[in-house]
Order: sequence, then C-alpha cells, then structure tokens
Amino acid sequence: QQFWLRGQRPEEPVRFDPETGMWNVYGYPETVRVLGEPGTFSSDTLRVLPDSVMRGNKAMREGNLVQMDEPDHKKLRRLVSEAFTPKVVADLEPRIAALTHELLDAAAQRGHLELVADLAYPLPVIVIAELLGVPSSDRDLFKQWVDKMLEFSGQFSLVKQSAEQDRALEIVFEQRRQLTEYLAAHATERVQRPREDLLTKLVQAEVDGERLTTNEVVNFATVLLIAGHITTTMLLGNTVLCLDAHPEQMARVRADRRRLAGAIEESLRFLSPFAAVGRATTVETALGGVRIPADKLLMVWIAAANRDERQFARPDEYDASRDPNPHVAFGRGIHFCLGAPLARLEGRVALGILLDRFPDLRVDPAGPEFIPSPNMTGVRKLPLLLAS
Ligand code: HEM
Repeated sequence: QQFWLRGQRPEEPVRFDPETGMWNVYGYPETVRVLGEPGTFSSDTLRVLPDSVMRGNKAMREGNLVQMDEPDHKKLRRLVSEAFTPKVVADLEPRIAALTHELLDAAAQRGHLELVADLAYPLPVIVIAELLGVPSSDRDLFKQWVDKMLEFSGQFSLVKQSAEQDRALEIVFEQRRQLTEYLAAHATERVQRPREDLLTKLVQAEVDGERLTTNEVVNFATVLLIAGHITTTMLLGNTVLCLDAHPEQMARVRADRRRLAGAIEESLRFLSPFAAVGRATTVETALGGVRIPADKLLMVWIAAANRDERQFARPDEYDASRDPNPHVAFGRGIHFCLGAPLARLEGRVALGILLDRFPDLRVDPAGPEFIPSPNMTGVRKLPLLLAS
C-alpha cells in the first residue's frame, strides 16, 4: 500500500501475477474499458473462485449488488436508487452537521482529537445506521466486525494456499456470518413491525411482483453498512492528510470554502480509498496488449489508474484545483458508487465544520497510521493538534 502512496505505477498497464493467479489492471484507459464493458468483465467474481476458497459461502452472492450482473443488477439497483434520491441525500445535511458538531464538542472538551475515532469513523456509520434503521449505538459491534475483516494484510492468492490466507478467510466469513445474523434479526422484525426506514422499504419492496428474500435484503444491507462507512472514513482522513501536507492549498481552501469540493475530489484521486475492484472475464479478451482467457480474475487498481500520466498531468502531485478531475475512485458505468452523493455531502459538511472550528488544526507529527490492507488506502489513526 505504501507503494501507492509513493505514487508509482507499473509501466505495463495490465500484468499477470503468477503469485496470485490474477491479472492486475493498472492503466486508466484499460480500467475505463473494463468497468464500461460488464458483459466481458463480470462483477460476479465469486463464480470463478474455487470451492476450496468459497467453502459453501456462495449464499453471500444473493442480493449483493456490487457482485451482480445484468439483468438482476439493474432491477435491484433501480429499487434501491429510490431510497437514495438526490432529495433523500440533500435532506440529510442538517443531521450530518448536527452530528459533526456533537462529535467535535466531545473531542474539544478533551483538548485533543484523533480524527478517525472521534469523527471520521462514527459520523458515516451513524448516518448509514440511521438510514437503514439499525441502532447506531451498536457501532462498536460493526467496527469490530469490519476491522477484523480488514486485518489480512497479505495479497490474496488463487494459486498459493497459505495458512495465513486460510485463517484470514475464516475470519472474514465468520465476521460476515455474525453481521448477517444481526441484520437478519432486524429484517425479520421489520416484516412484523414495519417502520420508517430503509430495512422496512427493502423487506416490503417488490421486484417484478416478487418480494426480496430475507437473504437478499440482508446481503444488500451488509454491502451498504460496510461500503457506506469505511470508505467515507478514509475519505475524511485522507483529505485532512493531503491538505495538511500542502499548507498553501489548505490556506486557499480556508479562505474560500467553495474550494473544499475540489480538494475532496483530488484526495479521492490521489489516495483512492477503495484501491481495487474485482472482475472476472466471461470470454477470452485482449486488454492492454495482453490476452486474458475466459473465467479469469482481474484486480482493477483504480488507485493506480488515478495516477496514470496518460490521463492526468503531474499525476503524483496533489492539486486541489485540478479541473477537470475525471478520477475513477467511485468506479464507472453500471456499478458507479450508489453512495457517491452521500459521501461527497458528508465530506463537504464535516470537513467544512472541522476547518471552521479549528483554525490552527495540524496533523500531529507523531504521525498517522495506515490501514494495513493492500486494497484500502486510508488512515486508521490520525492524531491532530488543535492549537499552534
Ligand atoms: C459501489 C467507492 C461511499 C454504497 C462502489 C464502487 C466503488 C465505490 C469504487 C464500484 C465497485 C465496483 O465497480 O465493483 C466508494 C468510495 C466511497 C463510497 C470511494 C467514499 C468515499 C459509499 C457510500 C455508500 C456506498 C457512503 C452507501 C451509502 C455503494 C454501493 C455500491 C458502491 C451500494 C454498489 C453499486 C452497484 O453495484 O451498482 N463504491 N464508495 N458507497 N458503493 Fe460506494
């Protein structure tokens, strides 16, 4: 991961890795093509994983929007898009602002701020829990599950079985099982006692005249709960980190808050939280001068594509005024991040308030701590100094 932070990108845009048995895609045009051609590059990657890896966990596929192909993906996406209309997201602004103040009040009283624990983690998780309708007071439980899922710091391999990888997969499946059980209990309760929340909407929703199964509802809610917070946590931390490292750009953003949106977009490009997405070929194809057989796994490194000098001038420089900034940190095409407007709103509101309240805010020279996973670019600890 530190590799990406240094901003290097391999020369070849597509490269087979014999260690993992997967094709790595690093280039921008190649990434755009993969994400734009879902017929050739399927999101149903579990299909090509050997049973030794899946070990009966294929039930995770149902309702998992990120890993669905057409036409099923389109139906479910249409349904859940109704819960994420621009109005629903915009209406959350006052709640996001109130929560940010509440969380910062608590930290300000203590006189020190660790951005992740005090704001960047709790804020998005409370917002997504409230949307779904699960108690946000259970957020320490979610954190426990998700942190354990992210602990595997190695590179996942299809060809090399290792005790470390087996143990990591066991842990991931076990955390998923606990999260699934938790959400299933809430979903079942909504069938009996409907409320004004997203879980109720999901259990009542009909696709082509049929209700979603509990398993589908639960898997979709799992995706939302996980995708809806860790990535935004990283976005908040990364933007503070980038601006702190560039005091002249921080000063410009402070002087004109309209520049904050550009700073957030550039931090998404420069340190892309979701560093890689997976795809599986459905047919043999050529990509970036390399032939890839059918039914093979691809790791599409959007973090690397976002540093491709064929697309971005001075790709390894953080430039909050970069415009246009066609980064692919939220993906592209049919799977484009459903939560992007919410993530952007949370970033703008929370960081705006943070800058307003702490004019002398600096990153503690003791330094940040990065998430050890190679697929995630973000801090898990970011201590800040509040006064100069
Ligand atoms: C999809 C990144 C925040 C929900 C995606 C994808 C990326 C991404 C790269 C595409 C995956 C693929 O093509 O395989 C991010 C980043 C975020 C963020 C960087 C924050 C900075 C959120 C939030 C939510 C969310 C806040 C929910 C409230 C989803 C969902 C999908 C998705 C449901 C699947 C969409 C589909 O398959 O049609 N996200 N995300 N994300 N994201 Fe996000």
